[in-house]
Amino acid sequence: TYVVTDNCVRCKYTDCVEVCPVDCFYEGENFLVIHPDECIDCGVCEPECPAEAIKPDTEPGLDKWLKVNADYAQIWPNITVKKEPLPEAKEMDGVADKFDQFFS
Ligand code: SF4
Ligand code: F3S
Repeated sequence: TYVVTDNCVRCKYTDCVEVCPVDCFYEGENFLVIHPDECIDCGVCEPECPAEAIKPDTEPGLDKWLKVNADYAQIWPNITVKKEPLPEAKEMDGVADKFDQFFS
């Protein structure tokens, strides 16, 4: 599966949701997740994210993000249409370790 990680938090550009062939993105207040059981590993979303927040789960160190994606994909609503990024997206893009800043 592919995983949404750190740099989506407080940016949420949403370019990713439009390209997913199986519509497996789910939206929280300031972050999106991918449903790991629905993602077909096509990789199309990865280069679409301006914040480079989407990674394959084969990359090391993504365990905590994989769990966040799996857990919240079951709770948050599906999103398939792009919307405006968050107002603070530009400032927050690239800020290190935003793990503690995503609102569940
Ligand atoms: Fe959707 Fe493909 Fe991205 Fe998985 S890798 S979330 S199937 S676009
Ligand atoms: Fe987040 Fe990137 Fe999508 S910032 S909403 S993963 S385009």
